Amino acid sequence: MEKTFVIIKPGMVQRGLIGEVIKRFEQKGLRLAGMKMTLLNDEILTQHYAHLKDKPFFGQIKQSMCACPVILCCWEGVEAVQVVRNMTGSTNSRSAVPGTIRGDFGMSVQENIIHSSDSTEAAIEEINRFFLPEELYDYSMNLSAYLYADDEL
Ligand code: PPS
Repeated sequence: MEKTFVIIKPGMVQRGLIGEVIKRFEQKGLRLAGMKMTLLNDEILTQHYAHLKDKPFFGQIKQSMCACPVILCCWEGVEAVQVVRNMTGSTNSRSAVPGTIRGDFGMSVQENIIHSSDSTEAAIEEINRFFLPEELYDYSMNLSAYLYADDEL
């Protein structure tokens, strides 16, 4: 099944709202395959945000992402990448639709609550960058029959 990658950013850790994000993905029916707290460093953020290296905010976003520890999560489900992107909301939290995570918790572009992979290719790359294989768990929740029709799996 498809996996995607989420970072719960420093602002949400500081605000004590980690659980609010995790709760939404659990309620949606995604399976948590891996999760850990870590303090990101400039080296890994330079890789993660390599596509933004020419943007004026490159240094600033890296600095904000290592302001305090973050929560890294890997979520799994049918079309998990798109499902999580839809739940994340648009980049600018001020214009993100209410009901999305950014729309409900944020007021900023940079401090936009969570990062989520924007494609299946990015998800694979990001999961491999931030997790070791042994940090991801392939356990069964025995819920498939209640979450999906047979022909969706
Ligand atoms: S998205 O939704 O994350 O894919 O958004 P995207 O437009 O691709 O932006 C990629 C990341 O760059 C951050 N960003 C900014 N930071 C500071 N200032 C400005 N102006 C700005 N514009 C975009 C945005 O928060 C995205 O971070 P991540 O961690 O990928 O969400």
